[in-house]
Order: sequence, then C-alpha cells, then structure tokens
Amino acid sequence: MKNTVSTFLSMKEEGTKITMLTAYDTVTARLINQAGINAILVGDSVGNNALGYESTNQVTMDDMVHHCAAVARGNDSCLLVCDMPFLSYETSDRDAVLNAGRLVREGHAQAVKLEGGVEVASRIKAITDAGIPVCAHIGLTPQSANAFGGFKVQGKSEEGARKLIEDALAVQEAGAFAVVIECVPAKLASLVSSKLAIPTIGIGAGAGCDGQVLVYFDMLAMADFKPKFVKQFAQVGQMMVDAFKAYDEEVKAGTFPGEEHTFGIKDEIMEKLY
Ligand code: KIV
Repeated sequence: MKNTVSTFLSMKEEGTKITMLTAYDTVTARLINQAGINAILVGDSVGNNALGYESTNQVTMDDMVHHCAAVARGNDSCLLVCDMPFLSYETSDRDAVLNAGRLVREGHAQAVKLEGGVEVASRIKAITDAGIPVCAHIGLTPQSANAFGGFKVQGKSEEGARKLIEDALAVQEAGAFAVVIECVPAKLASLVSSKLAIPTIGIGAGAGCDGQVLVYFDMLAMADFKPKFVKQFAQVGQMMVDAFKAYDEEVKAGTFPGEEHTFGIKDEIMEKLY
C-alpha cells in the first residue's frame, strides 16, 4: 500500500497508529519499506547523526536535497517527508515556497516538515497553497534550541501548555496535514491530539498521539546519547563494532578470506606466468 497524506488522515479517523522513522540513505529507506512503516522523515537530524555536524542548524538545503533524493531511490510505499533546514523558510513566504519546491523537485519529497507554531502559520499556508503538503513540528523545536536555552521539555507550565494548544490549532488552520509534537508531557499531547482533526506524531510525547516518530540511529542504539523517550529496539551499534573487530582479527590471523571467498584460475595458466 502506498502511504499518502490521505492515508494519514484516514488512519487518524480509524484510530490506527501511524509509524514514522527517519532515514538518510537508500539502503535504510529500503529496509524501512520492508518493515511496513508508514512514513519516512528525512530529518535535519542527518546533520548530527550522519554528517558529524555540531547541531541541526548547520544543515543546508543542498544537504537535505542530496539525502532526500538518496532516500527516494530506496522508497516505494512510505510517505516521504523531508525537513526544511534552518533558515530555509524563516525569511519569507516566498523563500519557504521556493525551498519546499526544491525538496519536492530535486529531492523527490512528497511533503515537507518545518518547525514552529503560530509564527510560521503563513509559511505553512503559502507552501500548502503551492500544492506541497506540510507537516508541522511543535513543542521542542531543535532549530530554536538556542532561543529556548537548550533542549527542554516544553508545555509544563500553564502558559507553555496553552501556547502548545494555540500552536497546534494554528498549524492545523494554516493547512498542515499532520503535526509532530516533540518533548511535551504525555497528558498534554493527548489533549492536543483529541482537539485536532489532523494526526499528531509524537516523539517524547507519550502514547496518546496518533502516531510516533523516532530517529533510527537512536532506536538502533547507534548514537552516542540516549534521550529518555527513546527505546532501543536493537543494539545495532554494538553489533557493528563486534563485526568490525571480528574482521580485524580474522584478517590479522589469516583466516579471512577463506577458500570460499576467493576466485580460482586454471593451474596451466598460472604455470605459464612463473
Ligand atoms: O530531524 C529529525 O529527525 C526530526 C525528528 C526528531 C522528528 O525532526
């Protein structure tokens, strides 16, 4: 089944949970497709996880186009959502539309995601008016971590909780087809989910959201740091280190490559070469 923005809306109506994972390359996209996940997010978390940047704010439009196109080559059935990087939409509605268009035209994204609530409502409207579906992202928005004073749970005070609800309603009103809610108390995220007609996709926002998203480096234990909200579904990082060590040992011991890994040649040809 090909997942689309309409699938997301029907899933919310039916009460079926939506699954989304990040991917940054073709092979991972293929594996995520094989697992039957509903959506792939080419997150700007590519910056920290795959490119060695200090923060997502260093990620460029060229980085996102490059990685989105790679993911698209391995994608068949997932809805492909690509993050708009820092400063690709803040400057004007026109910049937002042109950059979202690049992610669709060159990166083959089917939808884009951008961070913010009330303050980016006009950007969401402009992009959706241009025919590009937008997934909003509220709560903890990592591109604004400098303004928040770090990576903190959002919406814990009455004022913060009211701001989250206001943001959620504003992005829905602006035309977003879904909204990622990051790092907010579970009860608040459930309340927001019940108030919205569009699906909420939670990360660190509890089980009451309409779907969940995780960064695949985190859920496979490939990242250095494990946030509280992450469950490690497999120890892939350690499996890789163990495999690299075994390879190093076998090459040094002369046990790899073995007979079964080598190509033969007729003895009479070899004899002529000595
Ligand atoms: O960039 C990303 O991976 C994200 C997720 C944390 C939702 O935005």
